[in-house]
Order: sequence, then structure tokens, then C-alpha cells
Amino acid sequence: MYVVQAQSLIPYIDMTIINSANLIERADRSNLTLCKPALACGIQQTATRRQYFCGSTNMPRKPYSITMMNGDTVTALFGEATAEQQIECYTLSSSAWASYLDEDEVIAREKHLSVESLSRDGGRRTWCLYRQDDPGSVLSTCKTLRRDFRLENTGNTHQVGGYCITSVCTATLYRGHGLASHMLRNVTDWLDGPGQALVSVLYSGIPQFYERLGWNPVLDMEVILNTSAWLYDVLGPYAKISVRPLRDADIEELCAKDTESLMKQYKQSESTPEKTRLTILPTADVVKYQHGLSNYMGELWHYEIPEIRGAAYEDQAWLYWFHDFRGRCLYVQRVHDSISKEDPEAHIMTALFLCAIREAKEWNFTSIATWDTTSRVRKALQTLAQASVFSKSVSESHRKQKMFLRLRDGDMDLSSIVMDNEAFSWNLRY
Ligand SMILES: CC(C)(COP(=O)(O)OP(=O)(O)OC[C@H]1O[C@@H](n2cnc3c(N)ncnc32)[C@H](O)[C@@H]1OP(=O)(O)O)[C@@H](O)C(=O)NCCC(=O)NCCS
Repeated sequence: MYVVQAQSLIPYIDMTIINSANLIERADRSNLTLCKPALACGIQQTATRRQYFCGSTNMPRKPYSITMMNGDTVTALFGEATAEQQIECYTLSSSAWASYLDEDEVIAREKHLSVESLSRDGGRRTWCLYRQDDPGSVLSTCKTLRRDFRLENTGNTHQVGGYCITSVCTATLYRGHGLASHMLRNVTDWLDGPGQALVSVLYSGIPQFYERLGWNPVLDMEVILNTSAWLYDVLGPYAKISVRPLRDADIEELCAKDTESLMKQYKQSESTPEKTRLTILPTADVVKYQHGLSNYMGELWHYEIPEIRGAAYEDQAWLYWFHDFRGRCLYVQRVHDSISKEDPEAHIMTALFLCAIREAKEWNFTSIATWDTTSRVRKALQTLAQASVFSKSVSESHRKQKMFLRLRDGDMDLSSIVMDNEAFSWNLRY
């Protein structure tokens, strides 16, 4: 039996975080300061508490001591993992989530991902807390992955830099001593300082932990479309719509077009001009990083790498997807929709999603997921549900992995943000 799921994030935040005008002003300032030579070595001119940073990741190494149950004192230092420590970090991650990969496989996966374009030039960094008396012994770890954001406010759009934090874990023996909290505080200091991140995000199923550390949950919903496998695969009007498969070679160009058109769009609602709109940009490096993970898992479990990465209709609409082999789910990473002709029945979108269903069937996956909740996507999914033999229903629920947002300097007062977020930015559990 096949299940088609449509997951979504209702792009809305109901928390007071930051003053939107202030944010724009700081975005401008951030872009400006990027050009200043003083920042080449990470020296912050405005934030005195960070003046001692020098070098892109050279952080102040304030020791953090904990007392273990047996009375031993362990002192930890924070830093970006050295090549040797990275292996320890990956080993630690491999045991953190009831691992589906063994240690060697996790290390091989990380090496595989390290050659992706996103990983280069500091786009991916591994952080850790390690024992002062034994630097090879890693106690806690996490990663930062670069993201680009579009920020829109009162008629202005800006592109700003940021990160997604992933793979947070602490060695079992050392949990509950504040190590992960201490490490994340250090990472956010880096984000605010040398990392020059105006916006950062993370995805987690343990909201209380991150809320306590100043991360703000984004209200999220998931639209689930349950249906059976027995879709009539040749569905009248959709069969006539000419959609083409997308391959690796197409991604770079389409992402560039997509990002360019997003930067040009003005999406702000006239009824809420005071809101700031944040959009994670579907840049090719981020989209392809997920493909890199699919490739590694496809090769490992099926001796085969996915070839089809999405589907497109002319140059007006397209989907990219990635294969989540662990969850047996085809995730629609991004829906680009600039369909110019009248399509009240959403036939074009339905035809694109039909391609996704066919691809999911190819791999014997049990679900398809998208976080896009626009009416056209909903209509397409509804149509496909109804076309199945044992059609069930469309339902909405909260996503298990909630998204959290953090803006530089907690003292910013952002009154309201509308957040766009699609599955391409999700980190799974790398
Ligand atoms: C979550 C994790 C990183 C915390 O590490 P840690 O070094 O023990 O963290 P800290 O000591 O700073 O904070 C511990 C707090 O996190 C809370 N916490 C840990 N795991 C939790 C969970 N699954 N659900 C809810 N809260 C959790 C603890 O209750 C504790 O709160 P307390 O101080 O009120 O008792 C660690 O438990 C771990 O590695 N878990 C497995 C991997 C994981 O789930 N990572 C998070 C992915 S988003």
C-alpha cells in the first residue's frame, strides 16, 4: 500500500522577536560590514563582548567544568573540530539516534557529504566540546550548514546570510550536565560574531530544550494526504501535459532562476505591511546537499543512485525532490510555480506531482511529502487522492520536527515575521 502525504509549514510566527525595521537596518549594516577589511579576521567593531575573536573560528576557549556522578571533575573546551576530532564527532553522532548506520558508514557518509559544494569554504562546520585533558575525547558535537535568506520589509528585499544548526548530541555518559547548552551558546556567539549570521534556523523534536536557549518556534502545520497505492496512473488531462524529468545537470540553472525570481518578487501582503517576510533561498548548494545524502544512501542500500531529481513543466513550474531512503519517503524539496496560463483545476501541478508518485513507486517508497501549502498544491494533492482506488482524506497536523528561528542578538525586537520554509532546507538527521 502506498501513502501520499502532503506536509506543510504554515508560514507564520506569532512571537515577538525583533523589530522589523531594526532587522532591515542591521541587514544593511551586516552587508556593509562584510566588506570591511577588519572583518577579514573576524574582528567585530560594534560588539565589544566579541572583540577578542580573531580568525574565522578562533573562539575564546573558556573552560567549562562538570562534576560526574563518581565525583570526578571533567573540564571541557569548545572549538571547531580538528580533522581528528571530526571523526570522533561522527562516531558520537552515529550512536545518538538509535543509529541506522554503523560507525564506519556514518564516517563514510560524512566524507561523502564533505565534497558537496555546500561543505566548502566553511559552508559546513563541525563543532565540539572536548576534554581539556584529552582533546581526542569529544563530549558534545553539532554542525552548522550555511543558508541564504531573503528578507523583505516595506518594499525592500535583501539577501542575508545565516546557518542551520544540525546534529546536536552529547555522549550518553555526560548528558544532563549542561554540555549541549554550553556548546550551543558558544555556537550562537560564533554565529553572531565571526559567522556573521543574521538569521539561523534548526529543526528539532525537543522544543523545550531550544526554547530555553532562546530559539523561537515557527508555527508549523503539516497537510497529510492519505491515499492508496492504486492511483490510476494515466489520469486523463494530466497525461497530455508535457512534463520533463529533471536530472542533476538541471539543478544549478533552475535553482539560480528560482532564487533570482524570489529575490525579485514582492510578496508582502498589503494588509500586513508591518510584517517582515523571511524566505530560505533554494540555492543549488543546499538542494544538492540533500541529493548527496540520497546518493550515499541509495548506493549503500540499493547499489543505485537516484537519477531523476524532479519534474518540470516548460520553464514555468517545477519540483525538485530528494529520496529519504530511511523514511521511504520522497520529499518534495521545493515547488516553483510561475504558471502563467489559466489553470483553475491545477492540472499542471497535478501532472508534476504525478511524476513524484511515479518516482516514489520506482523506489517502493510509501509516502510523498511537501511543505508547500499553496492552494494549487493542495488542489493537486486532493485530485490525486481522489484518483486513488481507496481514497482516504486530507488532514492537517503539526510536524514532528519543528522549526526554530534565531535572529542575531537576542535583544532585537522583532514584532512579527512571516516565514517561508520548504523541505530543501531541512537537515533530517545528518
Ligand atoms: C538533547 C541532548 C543533545 C542534550 O544534551 P545535554 O548535554 O544533556 O544537554 P544539557 O545538559 O545542556 O540540557 C539537558 C536538558 O535537555 C533536556 N532534554 C534532553 N533530551 C531531551 C528530550 N528527548 N526531550 C526533552 N528534553 C530533553 C533534558 O531534560 C535537560 O533538561 P533539564 O536540565 O531541565 O533536566 C542529548 O540528550 C542528546 O544527545 N540526545 C540525543 C540526540 C538528540 O536528540 N539531539 C537533539 C536533536 S535536535
